[in-house]
Amino acid sequence: MADLVRFGVSIEQSLHKRFDEKITRQGYQNRSEAIRDLIRNSLVKENWDDNAVVAGGISIVYNHHHRDLLAKIMDVQHDYYDLIISSQHVHLGHSGCLEILVVKGKSRKIQELCESLKSIKGVRHVGITKTGISSEII
Ligand code: NI
Repeated sequence: MADLVRFGVSIEQSLHKRFDEKITRQGYQNRSEAIRDLIRNSLVKENWDDNAVVAGGISIVYNHHHRDLLAKIMDVQHDYYDLIISSQHVHLGHSGCLEILVVKGKSRKIQELCESLKSIKGVRHVGITKTGISSEII
């Protein structure tokens, strides 16, 4: 095996517990292998053709009580208004919100939008589904 590097990660206890339960269910022998797979998957996704025009959905989960969060999320969406076809907001409970954006545009720009949303402090989760829209597919 190539040279190994050790690094520490700080996460909430509840997230740590859920991650361990998940990787046990998936049959991983240890946490390192599971994290290596997560990193590899993340790098593979990065290799998607940046200039390909794709369509997809971005889901954002956040707590709307978090100070200024809503305004920051809205600012980012306005920065990328030309990619966002529609958005839907769902109240998950007293504080949790789910927002789904339908997007279409260059893969690179959509990824950029996702990263901007992820980087906002207080956003709990950002998920993305991308699909090609070439005539070979549809
Ligand atoms: Ni809401």
